[in-house]
Amino acid sequence: METAEELRKRIRALCRERNAVILAHNYELGEIQSIADYCGDSLELAVKAAATEADVLVFCGVRFMAETAKILSPDKTVLLPVPEAPCEMAEMVDAEELRKLKARHPGALTICYVNTTAAVKAECDLCVTSGNALELISRLPRDREILFVPDRNLGSYCAKMNDREMIFWEGCCPVHQRLTPEMVERRRREYPGAPVLMHPEAPPETLALADAALSTGAILREVAKRPEKEFIIGTEIGILHRLEKENPQKRFIPLSCEAVCPHMKLIELTDVVDALEKTQYEIHLPEELRRRAELPVRRMLEKNLDFLNSKEE
Ligand code: 13P
Ligand code: SF4
Repeated sequence: METAEELRKRIRALCRERNAVILAHNYELGEIQSIADYCGDSLELAVKAAATEADVLVFCGVRFMAETAKILSPDKTVLLPVPEAPCEMAEMVDAEELRKLKARHPGALTICYVNTTAAVKAECDLCVTSGNALELISRLPRDREILFVPDRNLGSYCAKMNDREMIFWEGCCPVHQRLTPEMVERRRREYPGAPVLMHPEAPPETLALADAALSTGAILREVAKRPEKEFIIGTEIGILHRLEKENPQKRFIPLSCEAVCPHMKLIELTDVVDALEKTQYEIHLPEELRRRAELPVRRMLEKNLDFLNSKEE
């Protein structure tokens, strides 16, 4: 059996041979984050996927993230190193159900969280991530209804911060849904003075007790600029890998040690070797669907909301 160091060497050699880059989400196993060319949140990884000149993208994350990369880079080979790595929240809405909701709200704007399948994105006007949802939603006209899918927690947070009503899909992330106000109260007692940084997928009553609601990438930036030495981290614990590596002088306390997304822990070094050697598991999207899904994602990346002024809207 090869050692981790040997596997890492093989992966680097294969990447050179195949002109491949490895993108990894901040929740992936530490061994995967360590071999990635780029680690980041959903938005940062989408930006990288759109900009890379590599021929092959090995996407270490959940399926919707690899799909988003394929939506943006149709000519590249996009690989998800395990055959299935679903995001449970993304599976909570499907295109047909969404079409029914849209039919009941003619004239509404349909906004999808990036944690959705390509088929759902193809039904939407605009895509957002936890890193840009507040900003983009603040630019939407107040006289239009907004349908927000699938995360009712992120949706509620955006509605509250923008002081406007929105219609939510009843979806949520099961991992973040388990973060409770009692956990925050307990950690604050244990670590007085430590800021609580939380992901906006947490339920509203828990998020209300946080010092900041941030995407995983923004949590990393926030920690780097704040003077405190201890932080309570209210999100999936995979983020501790980068937090600890990039801030060795600071201490990070997970809000809950049980906040683990099993789908983000599936990919191991051997899967990345196999992905590169066998070109597996390739993401394919029907071109017509991909084009429709690309529209809301490009509007998000370009922050271009001109469609709101076009005649068809
Ligand atoms: P980020 O885009 O903030 O990394 O979040 C993705 C995600 O799936 C959170 O559960
Ligand atoms: Fe999906 Fe939740 Fe896992 Fe994020 S943590 S990928 S939202 S299931």
